[in-house]
Amino acid sequence: MGLCNLVKELWRAYFFFFSPQFWRMALLWAFSILYSYYQLFKPYLFSQKPVSYPRCSPSTSASRPVCVVTGATSGLGLSAAYELSKEGYVVVIVGRSQQLLAETIRKIKDWNKDARLKAFEVDLSSIESVVKFKTSLRQWLLDSDLHCSIQILINNAGILATSHRVTAEGYDQMISTNYIGAFALTKLLLPLLESSPVSAKIVNVTSFTHRAVTDVKVDEETVSGKRFLRSMCSSYPCAHIYEYSKLCLLLFSYELHRQLCLMAKSHQIFVSVADPGVVKTNLMREVPAILSCLAFLVLKRLRLLQSPESGVNSIIDAALAPPGTSGAYFFGGKGRTINSSALSRNAKLARELWESTSKLLSVTPFGAEGNSW
Ligand SMILES: NC(=O)c1ccc[n+]([C@@H]2O[C@H](COP(=O)([O-])OP(=O)(O)OC[C@H]3O[C@@H](n4cnc5c(N)ncnc54)[C@H](OP(=O)(O)O)[C@@H]3O)[C@@H](O)[C@H]2O)c1
Repeated sequence: MGLCNLVKELWRAYFFFFSPQFWRMALLWAFSILYSYYQLFKPYLFSQKPVSYPRCSPSTSASRPVCVVTGATSGLGLSAAYELSKEGYVVVIVGRSQQLLAETIRKIKDWNKDARLKAFEVDLSSIESVVKFKTSLRQWLLDSDLHCSIQILINNAGILATSHRVTAEGYDQMISTNYIGAFALTKLLLPLLESSPVSAKIVNVTSFTHRAVTDVKVDEETVSGKRFLRSMCSSYPCAHIYEYSKLCLLLFSYELHRQLCLMAKSHQIFVSVADPGVVKTNLMREVPAILSCLAFLVLKRLRLLQSPESGVNSIIDAALAPPGTSGAYFFGGKGRTINSSALSRNAKLARELWESTSKLLSVTPFGAEGNSW
């Protein structure tokens, strides 16, 4: 790094350090993760039995089961793809860079030479790209020796953006990647999940940071990110929007679980949420490097920082939970679950969010798909 770049980086770190967003992350996120661990260990403190689920291997059927992992080119997604390839799944790897996808396939093949993988280039923040993916995936399944269905969908792709960027549809890029893209993809892939000869699972990867949201609006303007921008003082409210997007993903997961129950499809498709805790991945790539290194150092000292290989446990626990496990929040590995925040379990709010997101998407290529859900 040249001197000029070093000075720029230090200047950026200085400004970020004195921003309310940094202190929101340092204090509220720390409180949120500690509260999650308190919930995890509470049953042991009071001699109660923690709620946990064993892992089940995929049911044997004529053809190999298929699993779709978004954001599989790095961190937790990469670890999840590898773990599920070892379980015998054909893993569909979804990423936004052709080069990273090729590298990911090489890496997983090096670790597990029997892995069966297929890569798709998809930008989860673009609804057009998500719609195209649905068509390509279906065609690929039809052309393969596999059953035309999927058994697991893991909505893992996510970003922590520190500057405002708008997608082609006019949404905030962070909300679009972390929530709207997952909402659209899940609804578009429901027919393939429904066609599964064995029960299918949807795992949404969320975060303990959702606990930092105490008051929330779920109208179209807020979901698209426009309201955050209007209330923006000087800098992009990155921490706030990240927490919000993760809360939306949770509300959506529980609402989908309720709707599947109402439609008597709850025996066919199960929806769970996985929270990996604090994991050292590339998620903080936009945060000034000096500050992210400092944060990792402190978190390591506090024994809160995990490797992707360990953090992925909650995702795999959710993906391999026994049929019937739905609406659960996996955290802490060993199949353990805890409760998410009270706000995330507000059914009225979830219903409103579902409606406003559907309205937002109705004018995009997603609406043209004639999705009846
Ligand atoms: N790390 C943590 O402490 C932590 C804690 C709680 C929850 N999580 C959640 O875990 C999930 C995985 O994050 P991570 O920590 O593994 O971070 P990561 O290493 O940055 O991985 C994120 C993945 O998402 C992909 N991605 C980002 N935007 C995308 C888009 N528009 N379209 C398609 N793929 C996209 C990235 O692809 P590129 O490589 O091309 O950018 C990458 O493969 C996220 O949802 C995150 O919010 C993480």
